[in-house]
Amino acid sequence: MKALVLAGGHGTRLRPITHTSAKQLVPIGNKPVLFYGLDAIRAAGIQDVGIIVGDTADEVRRAVGDGSRFGLRVTYIPQEAPLGLAHAVLIAREFLGDDDFVMYLGDNFIVDGVRGIVEDFRRSRPDAHILLTRVDDPTRFGVAELDETGRLVGVAEKPERPRSDLAIVGVYLFTPAIHEAVRTIKPGDRGELEITTAIGRLLERGADVRSHVITGYWKDTGRVEDMLECNRLVLETLEPYNHGVLDDATEIAGRVVIEEGARVTGSRLVGPLVVGAGATVRDTYVGPFTSIGPGCTLTDTELEFSIVMERSSVIGVRRIRDSLIGKDVEIKPAISTPQAHRFVLGDHSRVRVA
Ligand code: DAU
Repeated sequence: MKALVLAGGHGTRLRPITHTSAKQLVPIGNKPVLFYGLDAIRAAGIQDVGIIVGDTADEVRRAVGDGSRFGLRVTYIPQEAPLGLAHAVLIAREFLGDDDFVMYLGDNFIVDGVRGIVEDFRRSRPDAHILLTRVDDPTRFGVAELDETGRLVGVAEKPERPRSDLAIVGVYLFTPAIHEAVRTIKPGDRGELEITTAIGRLLERGADVRSHVITGYWKDTGRVEDMLECNRLVLETLEPYNHGVLDDATEIAGRVVIEEGARVTGSRLVGPLVVGAGATVRDTYVGPFTSIGPGCTLTDTELEFSIVMERSSVIGVRRIRDSLIGKDVEIKPAISTPQAHRFVLGDHSRVRVA
């Protein structure tokens, strides 16, 4: 069995972070969301992974390499544009050969992994198997329709009038039966070859497509609030350790991870939180559910419920919360004109000023 991991696409909902970075590499608890998926695939006993890459191919390749650090053999499959999830299957045909495979969307986050699901699939081998979960806003997802016996009878992609509250989770199990289906479908309303349409095609043809409702935590990390919630969840499970340097004036409460070479002085850290390798935290309050990336500088500031990506600095600004701050960002007070804000922000930035 192989895995096909989708790490292309545009990531419009996470702009401006994703103007320059792959959305699958935004860190959760200082580890890229994509890495949780790769670890889950390895834990399910799969070693051969094809990764679909688009505009951010270089960054994904730099982060994942040949996959050996995950115990995987990775083949990169360039996609000229994000033409759809079924298009990704189409261009991966050669890599996939006649093997069964798990398709894993690189921005999906599943706490329980996929081991049990993959084992069941290997044993029962239906033509396809999809995972479902109940959501409040099904119009944002692929939606499944089950009959009274719980059998999957229909699927629709982001329907205006959903027939259930069962969203399709971004992990799919397929036999080679999917290849014919992806070859015969046409692009949907958003101009993409939808995997949902291909699954619908299998159903129309009477194929054995099964589904089950997962109970564990799942998130599509496509939006800032989803990222922050996943971050909160991961930090809650932290095993605390200190591999950095703390001075006596620093107070620590709750589960706190200080990575190699981080220096914390005169500060109050209330976990769960992580301070990344080589970061400097001085005269600062860092509150719960916060991930500070490697090489960041926080001075004389207050920050909580936030993700700060690598090498960014926040100096003399309080209080920051519910924020996703990209790489190499600088936040500090304007010194020249009192009562004035001064911004240099990328396209699509969102700023809330108190
Ligand atoms: O997250 C679950 C949902 O994922 C399902 O409920 C939907 O049925 C499914 O269509 C998909 O919807 P999204 O709109 O969230 O998909 P998105 O465009 O965000 O793409 C998912 C991942 O696949 C993301 O990591 C980018 C990558 N991708 C996407 C496209 C369209 C590619 O690598 N290539 C592509 O062509």
